Amino acid sequence: MTLTELLTKGKQILEGKKIGFSIQAVETGWVWKNNRAVMEQYAFRQKAINAPAQADISCEFLGVPLKVPVVMSAMTMPIPAMADDGLLQVARGLKEAGSLMWTGTPIPKDIAALLETGVPLVVSAKPYAQREKLLAEIEQAQEQGAAMISLEVDAGQGTKIQDQPMATGCAPLSLEELKQIRGLVKGKLIMKGVLSAHDIELCLQAGADALVASNHGAHTIDYLPHPFQVAGELTQALAGRAPLVMDGGFRRGTDVLKGLALGADLVGLGRPILYALAAGGAEGVCDLVSQIGAELARTMTMLGAANLDGIGESCVMKL
Ligand SMILES: Cc1cc2nc3c(=O)[nH]c(=O)nc-3n(C[C@H](O)[C@H](O)[C@H](O)COP(=O)(O)O)c2cc1C
Repeated sequence: MTLTELLTKGKQILEGKKIGFSIQAVETGWVWKNNRAVMEQYAFRQKAINAPAQADISCEFLGVPLKVPVVMSAMTMPIPAMADDGLLQVARGLKEAGSLMWTGTPIPKDIAALLETGVPLVVSAKPYAQREKLLAEIEQAQEQGAAMISLEVDAGQGTKIQDQPMATGCAPLSLEELKQIRGLVKGKLIMKGVLSAHDIELCLQAGADALVASNHGAHTIDYLPHPFQVAGELTQALAGRAPLVMDGGFRRGTDVLKGLALGADLVGLGRPILYALAAGGAEGVCDLVSQIGAELARTMTMLGAANLDGIGESCVMKL
């Protein structure tokens, strides 16, 4: 299946099911619409003469080598409801593509089985108001071998789809609590959901190893900007002190290239992973990431970039 077929067929399948509700957006749906609209506001500056014939898109994230700067964004639901072994299929597909898996809520029971596929894995935790529950979840994930933990700093009011609360019983985290969690995490700690210099500064003060600029795929607060709309503020505050992942509305290799040009080290895919799983199982997930990578490499060359270091803000223009 082509990339367009994977995305359209998978979306159709999901929207036809009750669990298709999970891909909808908070309250008015503005964030979801804006995520795509923003992507369309950038075009490329072509440098055709002396362009390289091929581009190398391999990279490293927190010491993990990846074939492509495209990873799964934090998600568990609705994957197990799509197929009993859905999470394993996603793990196998991502491993094959040389990417990274990122689970969400609920934390899968069998993390060890996912790790056995050989896929690099990040396990994400919600800031439950019952902090003992949050701390216990992190401990259990680590006991099962999770070496990378992410903390959803943006889910202080849980999640909501349209008018329906989804993840409830959350409370905002304080700097002191972030530091406490840092002390508990033995491996890498990634903080997900930063959209301001304020949050970047506090996450770094708490010892985050990496950050995710994200509006949670339109599942937390309405009227949050897309990471591109605050990219200047974020990259200035970060000043290269930690790797930055961006997600929200990325669907193609060209979108990924825009993200990398605006300061991301990696780009995350949420809904597209669900579409690919629905349309083609593990093979679909592998195909999705591989085709996005191929499109990224093809486009990069014509902007004069032979590798990811060659991508910068000068590759794009705001229309
Ligand atoms: C069905 C679904 C479930 C999600 N679950 C989580 C979650 O448990 N934790 C989290 O941090 N983000 C969660 N997200 C947000 C994603 O990690 C990611 O930020 C977002 O989906 C990216 O936007 P995209 O779907 O347009 O690619 C979820 C998103 C979707 C669509």
